[in-house]
Amino acid sequence: MDPDDHVCLCFHVSQRKLVSFLKREKPRVASRLSECLGAGTGCQWCVRFLLELHRQWETGEEPGLEIAPEQYAKGRVAYHAWKKKERGGGAGAGAGGADAGTP
Ligand code: FES
Repeated sequence: MDPDDHVCLCFHVSQRKLVSFLKREKPRVASRLSECLGAGTGCQWCVRFLLELHRQWETGEEPGLEIAPEQYAKGRVAYHAWKKKERGGGAGAGAGGADAGTP
C-alpha cells in the first residue's frame, strides 16, 4: 500500500494521514486513530489494519501495510458480504431468509 492509498475506505483516510497522526499525537491506544478523520468508525473493516499500524508505530517500526490496494478493497467486499450474511441470521437461519432483493 502506498502512503496515499486509503486505509479507511469509508472515510477516505490515507495511510499517510494515519502515520502522520501516529507521529504527531503519539496515541497510547489504537482506538484513538478514530480521531483521525473518523478512521475505523464506519463498517469497521479497517480496524485490524489500524491496530497493525499502531502496533508497528508502538514497536518503533515505520508504519506501513504490506497489502496491495486492490486486494485490500476485495477483502472489504468479502467482509461486507460476510457481515450481511451474519445480520441475516447466518447459516441455518431458516427458510424465507433475508436474501430477497439482494443486488
Ligand atoms: S473501511 Fe474503515 S470503517 Fe469502513
